[in-house]
Amino acid sequence: MRTGIVGLGLRAGNVLKMMQADMTELELVGYVDPDPCGLSLLEGIANQLQQHESVETLIAKSSLDLLWVASPNHLHLEHIRAGLEAGLKVFTEKPIVITKSESFSLAELIHEHGENQLIVGLVLRYSQHMRELRRVIDAGMLGRITSIEANEHIAPYHGSFFMRDWRRLEKYSGGFMLEKCCHDLDIYNNVVGERPTRVASFGGRGNFIPEESPGNKHDDVYQQKLSYWESVDDPFTSDADIVDHQNALLEYPNDVSFSFHTSINVPDEHRRFCIIGSRGMAEGDFMRGNLRITDARTGKCLEDHKFNYLSTEIAGNYPAHYGADQLMCADIIAFLRGESDSLPVGPKDAIEAGLVAMAIDESRIKGEIIDMTETWQELDALY
Ligand SMILES: NC(=O)c1ccc[n+]([C@@H]2O[C@H](COP(=O)([O-])OP(=O)(O)OC[C@H]3O[C@@H](n4cnc5c(N)ncnc54)[C@H](O)[C@@H]3O)[C@@H](O)[C@H]2O)c1
Repeated sequence: MRTGIVGLGLRAGNVLKMMQADMTELELVGYVDPDPCGLSLLEGIANQLQQHESVETLIAKSSLDLLWVASPNHLHLEHIRAGLEAGLKVFTEKPIVITKSESFSLAELIHEHGENQLIVGLVLRYSQHMRELRRVIDAGMLGRITSIEANEHIAPYHGSFFMRDWRRLEKYSGGFMLEKCCHDLDIYNNVVGERPTRVASFGGRGNFIPEESPGNKHDDVYQQKLSYWESVDDPFTSDADIVDHQNALLEYPNDVSFSFHTSINVPDEHRRFCIIGSRGMAEGDFMRGNLRITDARTGKCLEDHKFNYLSTEIAGNYPAHYGADQLMCADIIAFLRGESDSLPVGPKDAIEAGLVAMAIDESRIKGEIIDMTETWQELDALY
């Protein structure tokens, strides 16, 4: 399967290695990247790869079967479009696009080229937690989902990376909620089985600010995670325009409510959830590996899991999303080989999660509750 990558950064390099370990027929033949920081991960093949000036040249000269989009977020739509219009299968990283109008343009492209042409790397949907949660929900163990509390908390070494990396600027990333929490918004949309009708949010930047700078004293933490394209040195005085903490409230049809908290300055990091249904609850933590199901009527613990992360030599030190990267690769390989005809998540889900993230930020900025009804009507009319 002849593959070309646009945006050969750390994500593409790491996931490619994982994918190729189980799919030897996936051959990387070329890439587009002005400064490919992921190239050093590809020992052995790096010097055989053709670098191209643009995605159009890559496609024209490489007889590709698959275009892999892992460029910074603001470039995704342009790169996905080039692949789909050339008749290629496209695997794209999240967030799929960064604005409302890009979301609608992508919906039109999906309508024209088919949903199966576009694979999306919303990795948490492939995770062991989500697989088990889907089984439990589908079996009716929780009854009707009525409310959810969840968070995504990341540690200061990782938070400082956000404040130094290209992700610090909305014009590239689309904002923190979109860049980092689109995974969470997608999985809880899926848990509820609906899209939010209204959202509200507050947040700001109060951790990574000049007054809190420790100077060079804790470089072992604040410079730990390397950043490349468009990066700056100091996470406390950078020109970042993203928030470092945020709370959001989401209302779904039938009065289902969801409160979500994120912060990038949480030293004992976790990614917890508590899903309450009419007949039971599911409580867990992606980071710590636990998942516990409790019956509402008897108070009995029905299931108590401790997932050991699948770690592989290939993943090395790369944080492989609690083993979900490996599970995602296995699912995508089966799909690309024609051994399965669907994936746990598709581009329409990615567009919806993105639009929710954008509405949450709109609420934070405007100080208003955002009603999403018209957004969904407009989107649905395009498919
Ligand atoms: N699924 C996940 O959980 C996950 C995890 C990490 C990153 N990502 C996504 O993967 C994408 C890449 O992130 P990353 O961590 O690899 O970032 P990165 O900074 O390591 O890599 C980005 C690469 O894009 C290149 N680039 C810049 N301008 C370009 C252009 N005009 N054309 C082609 N390439 C260009 C840069 O030189 C760099 O090598 C982002 O969309 C990010 O959100 C997803």
